[in-house]
Amino acid sequence: MATPIPIVLVHRNDLERTALKAALEALPHVQIAGERSELRAGLALAHQTRPTILVLELTVPVEDTLGTVAQYKMDHPDVAIFLYSDLLDPDTLLRAMRAGVSEVLRRPLDRGAVGQAVERVAALSARSKGGGVVRHVFTVFASKGGQGVSTIATNIALGIRHGTRREVALVDYDYQSGDVAFMLGLNPRRSLGDVIAAPRIESTTLQDALVKHESGVFVLAQPEQLDRVEGLTANQVGSVLEILGSTFDVVVVDAPHVINEITLEVFDRSSTILLAVEPSVPSVRAARRSLEIFQKLNYLTIPDRVRLVLNRRMDREAITVAQIEDTLGLPVFASVTNDYAVVSQAINMGKPLCGAAVPEGRAGRDLAELARLLLPTGESDQSAPTEEAPPRRSGGPRFFRRG
Ligand SMILES: Nc1ncnc2c1ncn2[C@@H]1O[C@H](COP(=O)(O)OP(=O)(O)OP(=O)(O)O)[C@@H](O)[C@H]1O
Ligand SMILES: [Mg+2]
Repeated sequence: MATPIPIVLVHRNDLERTALKAALEALPHVQIAGERSELRAGLALAHQTRPTILVLELTVPVEDTLGTVAQYKMDHPDVAIFLYSDLLDPDTLLRAMRAGVSEVLRRPLDRGAVGQAVERVAALSARSKGGGVVRHVFTVFASKGGQGVSTIATNIALGIRHGTRREVALVDYDYQSGDVAFMLGLNPRRSLGDVIAAPRIESTTLQDALVKHESGVFVLAQPEQLDRVEGLTANQVGSVLEILGSTFDVVVVDAPHVINEITLEVFDRSSTILLAVEPSVPSVRAARRSLEIFQKLNYLTIPDRVRLVLNRRMDREAITVAQIEDTLGLPVFASVTNDYAVVSQAINMGKPLCGAAVPEGRAGRDLAELARLLLPTGESDQSAPTEEAPPRRSGGPRFFRRG
């Protein structure tokens, strides 16, 4: 068992979940990638973190849990699913196996049996190192406003599109500001408001609400009137991301500046969270508070899931990069030069810095470089498929090709 074995744990009972977690953590190479008490939240997390093992409590009605397991297994055939349950009758056991469950862990907890089950999965996955489709959801976040979140999100979406020709969706979830469409010079009549007004969130609903920017990036904008997204739920946010994530190669999210159930849903579904920070004491303090919460939510256990982006970097700075890294305990992944004239002109004109193949100004070049770091240009549709790269697809995103 040489490589780490990430595990997501879903169990409603805190005591039992803690005992299971302790038993798993005692095993070599096991890494708890996250734990949730609720099945839906647990699956959303597993969907993004792609653990090797997903441990689920078998809850009643059994049919519902097994149905969910079967669906998840279809989407992620490589993930081993363990059910934690009381003794199962032979019929339920058979149905569990048909749904794709690999192991049943019986109450009361038997640490030896848990160890053997994990060992079996580790041996199997070592033998078949299958590289599946990995989609990218990049979420840009800062708990303080004005840190450049919208500038970064908008420009990396464009930079990735220009650099890789991948299908990119840009989602504006920041209902307070709703700047993305404006920054792109768009004046959309369709928005997230239309998606949540629909009786059900389906790919056709989303298709109708997206607006295409001239770069080819599809944008889900905030509505002009704030009340059109009043009552937006984490469930809805999750459904939108789920559909976009299965349709586009890359989804970039402009997240609201608050940690609440909506942002947690977004984070759970993000492959990378880009935490924006500026070289000022209040900004670094805010980033530290966010990281403390990320730590509690286990987002930091997966290496590089949270990346630090230093915005408005100046050559002569009272706070150095080393001090920021030291305070936050994370390296600065990329930085963007402080270039107020160019950045604010781009925003006011609706002409983003990375709108064209050649980016504008130093800040534009830094943002294009950040896009390249996130998704190297080699990872384009034309490149040979790598272990992580989605299979080659031609034409538009899947739901734009009908029939
Ligand atoms: N690299 C930069 N250099 C100079 N100014 C910048 C830079 N990045 C952002 N700004 C300025 O900071 C302001 C906020 O930027 P932006 O709207 O991208 O941040 P935000 O975090 O999305 O803010 P909001 O709280 O409105 O959501 C803008 O006026 C922009 O001109
Ligand atoms: Mg913003």
